[in-house]
Amino acid sequence: MYEGLSTQKKGLLFLTAVIIVFMQGGLWAARRQGTDNFPDNSLVVSPTRYLPFSRGNARPTIKEHPIPKLMSEAENRFRELLSRQSQTLEDAVKEYERRYRRKPPRGFDRWWKFARDNGVLMIDEYNNIEEDLAPFWDLSGEQLRWRAGLAGHLPFIDVVRVRSGNATAVNLLDGYESEDVSARAKGFLSMLEKFQDQLPDLEFPVNGMAEGRILVPWERRVGSNLTMQSNDDAVRNELSGIRHPDWHGEGNVWEAFRRTCEPGTAARRLFSSFRASSTHKTSQLSARSEEFVFARSTAGNYSFCTNPWAHYNQGHFFSDWRTIPAIFPVFSPAKASGFLDIRIPSHYYYAQTRRYTYGWDSVNLQLKPVDDMETPWEEKSDKIFWRGASTGGGSSPPGFAAQYQRHRQVVFVRLASDQSSANRTVVFADPPGSTNYIYADVPAAALNDEVMDVAFVKVVGAENFPGGHDAFVQLHRVDDGGVNLGDHWKHKYIVDLDGMGYSGRFFSFMESDSAVMKATVYREFFSDWIQPWLHYIPLSQTYSEIYNIHAFFSGATESTLRAANATVLSMPPEKRKTIDGDRRLRRIARAGKQWKRTIGRRVDMEEDRPLTDMLVPAAYVYRLCLEYARLWSDDREKMSFSL
Ligand SMILES: *[C@@H]1O[C@H](CO)[C@@H](O)[C@H](O)[C@H]1NC(C)=O
Ligand SMILES: *[C@@H]1O[C@H](CO)[C@@H](O)[C@H](O)[C@H]1NC(C)=O
Ligand SMILES: *[C@@H]1O[C@H](CO)[C@@H](O)[C@H](O)[C@H]1NC(C)=O
Ligand SMILES: *[C@@H]1O[C@H](CO)[C@@H](O)[C@H](O)[C@H]1NC(C)=O
Ligand SMILES: *[C@@H]1O[C@H](CO)[C@@H](O)[C@H](O)[C@H]1NC(C)=O
Repeated sequence: MYEGLSTQKKGLLFLTAVIIVFMQGGLWAARRQGTDNFPDNSLVVSPTRYLPFSRGNARPTIKEHPIPKLMSEAENRFRELLSRQSQTLEDAVKEYERRYRRKPPRGFDRWWKFARDNGVLMIDEYNNIEEDLAPFWDLSGEQLRWRAGLAGHLPFIDVVRVRSGNATAVNLLDGYESEDVSARAKGFLSMLEKFQDQLPDLEFPVNGMAEGRILVPWERRVGSNLTMQSNDDAVRNELSGIRHPDWHGEGNVWEAFRRTCEPGTAARRLFSSFRASSTHKTSQLSARSEEFVFARSTAGNYSFCTNPWAHYNQGHFFSDWRTIPAIFPVFSPAKASGFLDIRIPSHYYYAQTRRYTYGWDSVNLQLKPVDDMETPWEEKSDKIFWRGASTGGGSSPPGFAAQYQRHRQVVFVRLASDQSSANRTVVFADPPGSTNYIYADVPAAALNDEVMDVAFVKVVGAENFPGGHDAFVQLHRVDDGGVNLGDHWKHKYIVDLDGMGYSGRFFSFMESDSAVMKATVYREFFSDWIQPWLHYIPLSQTYSEIYNIHAFFSGATESTLRAANATVLSMPPEKRKTIDGDRRLRRIARAGKQWKRTIGRRVDMEEDRPLTDMLVPAAYVYRLCLEYARLWSDDREKMSFSL
């Protein structure tokens, strides 16, 4: 839909605008802070705490598996979170003032009533809004409005506009307005439906793409004083490239990202960014331990500044679309660390489509509480299921397309397609239910056959792969029989992975009766509302613990038992498994479904209301709009709420 635009004209307009911003803005001297160059281990359970292998000891040294503890901690944490939510408007105001040291925005009382009337459970947990809007407190209302106006002219950005309580979406083409807007803008528009009449006149520049857009160099963020004058030529030179919506061979996302890092971090030091990613795999002992380390959460805060080598696995660093090196209000569905986009719910969660909606009957255009293809738990396979295309978009910088670790999906499919005799170390209790933990070195080929059902459904860009299509197909399982969303429900484990951007299938996966395993480097609007190890199983960046997760919930596989010559082999088959693991897995599946129905829910099925409703995301957007409206105003004090 965007192909027809005169992007050149747009680009010129944008260029002029951006230069003005920077002449106003200025380059603020870098405040050098303490730098931390240690690898980012903050997201994993400390290996020393659970290290199951001591040197010279043939047996794991644990008496207790770490997963039950992760699960019970998760449950307690979520219970505590729910129980401490404010029950009255007075308490909600007090909590707001305690957290943010200012009054809530005007209209907070009506928002509170909206949330309460619609049974929204999360009343106080909106730190994501605070985080996303923080940079805009440094701008005046006038500057924000001006920048929003400019942002609306950027490529692949549409404007959702509220005028006299009526919201519309427009695409600002050269000199005229078109209603030919992205699905994302339409999705955002429908999220405003319920409360647009409560909003003042506003403009929301909505990102038409899945990728984040705003990467502001660190020097321009820290202590930036936007009233300072500067006509720094370097900045202007940099911006003069922004004449095209794509990189045009001038720069790339990773280069832009590196500049957002603090000076002194590894990513800032040019050559360290090119270090290979596998050097830290030293001994077999530590490789074994790595396979028994469980992520506490997904990696939304993963620091690519301190771990620059990890960027090779991320599609978004290779996007062809140019990022914007200045602060503009741009509303996007997800953000990776370093990006300054403002998060809104993804339109995939809001609309109904055959490919993204659980329970959607695309023939009768009906939403059903149980998907037609849903499968009873006992009939689901014990395998870990994933299907997707080897797309992943960009090739900026070019040449790296051959770097086959480029996308997380490729890493995952290669792991699951490994037919070699390389061993994976699997820890399990022998016999099941005991505390006699042993391990086995199991050939990857056997394990993958028993545990994994993972394949690409479509091969895209294999000509760039070393060895071409043939080599690609040899290293990655390709099942081009196609797959329906509903095929996922035949399996107890479904894996949710990032592609070029965040995964739009997540809500549908959560609503199913299967358990979701998720790896992501993005954070979305709901990230404070969901609890890993309660609602889903978080996966590390390497996925190397996945076989141990499977062994815990589904029991050691035949080849694992054989490799260990486990005592349980002499017992009858029905004694070889414990029902405890399966029960726990089912609990995660149920908690995930419940989460989708209460936190990310559509309207209750029995009520006679339109099925497009998703009130909880709407409550998030409503509150975001009130905050944005205050920032938009010249008199922010007047746009605040007091009891
Ligand atoms: C809102 O604006 C649209 C487009 O201009 C118009 O079609 C619609 O009737 C308006 N709705 C209300 C309630 O004013
Ligand atoms: C920003 O610059 C203005 C004008 O030079 C000055 O009054 C103000 O104190 C500065 N603010 C900060 C945070 O440095
Ligand atoms: C990630 O960072 C945000 C913002 O600093 C914080 O609120 C959140 O708790 C962090 N999440 C994790 C899992 O550390
Ligand atoms: C896998 O483990 C077995 C048993 O410990 C061992 O004999 C074999 O050499 C290992 N294979 C590889 C490729 O390391
Ligand atoms: C396997 O274990 C049994 C006893 O549990 C033992 O008799 C047998 O020798 C073991 N086999 C191997 C190959 O170690």
